[in-house]
Amino acid sequence: MTSSPELTFNDGNTIPQLGYGVWQVEDDVAEKVVGQAFEAGFRHIDTAKIYGNEAGVGRAIASSGLKPEEIFITTKLWNSDQGYESTLKAFEESMERLGLETLDLYLIHWMQPKQQKYVDTWKALIELQKQGRVKSIGVSNFSKEGLQELIDATGVVPAIHQIELHPFFNQADLREFGAANGILTQAWSPLGQGGELLESAVIKEIAAKHDATPAQVVIAWHLAIGNVVIPKSVTESRIRENYAALDVTLDETDIKAINGLDRTAEGAGRIGPDPAVSDFA
Ligand SMILES: NC(=O)c1ccc[n+]([C@@H]2O[C@H](COP(=O)([O-])OP(=O)(O)OC[C@H]3O[C@@H](n4cnc5c(N)ncnc54)[C@H](OP(=O)(O)O)[C@@H]3O)[C@@H](O)[C@H]2O)c1
Repeated sequence: MTSSPELTFNDGNTIPQLGYGVWQVEDDVAEKVVGQAFEAGFRHIDTAKIYGNEAGVGRAIASSGLKPEEIFITTKLWNSDQGYESTLKAFEESMERLGLETLDLYLIHWMQPKQQKYVDTWKALIELQKQGRVKSIGVSNFSKEGLQELIDATGVVPAIHQIELHPFFNQADLREFGAANGILTQAWSPLGQGGELLESAVIKEIAAKHDATPAQVVIAWHLAIGNVVIPKSVTESRIRENYAALDVTLDETDIKAINGLDRTAEGAGRIGPDPAVSDFA
């Protein structure tokens, strides 16, 4: 079985480039499908407090027989827990649910600009990393300005930035900022949530050329352009199919054609909220 490439963070730790996400997966289902993801070959799982399935992920880890050093687990701090002390508390609660001693990656889930707590929250993550409770720290759903503010205030550069990113919304700007500052880019909703994108004629044509599926082509594109990518599926055959995207290699012509699907210039493509302005509890 092909194993995922590892990318190196600015702190020297590594992350499997292909992972498995569990947003909108019920806790008891998460236990089952994370087990299936491990069986398929995934070793990197992306959860969050707000997904309500950290305990299910934890049970899947416990029954997997895999050693902590063989897997990579990410969870995220929810918006209502932002602030220094509340972050330290929320972290311990997540760890309790996950049943882990040490976490691989902890992320601030959303910047929440109106709350103005993200710098204090970032300081708490720095403290958790100093204490060795979490190996690497990063953020999700920030603006360039917000990232710069964290760096200027603390001197600590996030290891990774997890953002909405798929061929219809390819985030060239934030990817460039990340590359220039030593921040890896991680794609959420990498399949565009499985709708129109997988029906695109361009994607289907490339899939036929490589004897692959549309989802595999999209995942292979993420891998080729250097994204960490975390497709979600609760369907066992798709979990296996998505992992097997590691065996699909696109050429320059394919990558150019997929880059051409971006809708940012038309003010379109984004599925979720805009982190620079969105505030929600
Ligand atoms: N940081 C954030 O704010 C944030 C926000 C959103 C997501 N995320 C993370 O990113 C992960 C992935 O994003 P996502 O769940 O929004 O969307 P996604 O991975 O882009 O798409 C998931 C959808 O695609 C379908 N699908 C998966 N594999 C497929 C395949 N091979 N063929 C056809 N359809 C397929 C799934 O269906 P079935 O499940 O029915 O098979 C599901 O409906 C999340 O689970 C979460 O970990 C983070």
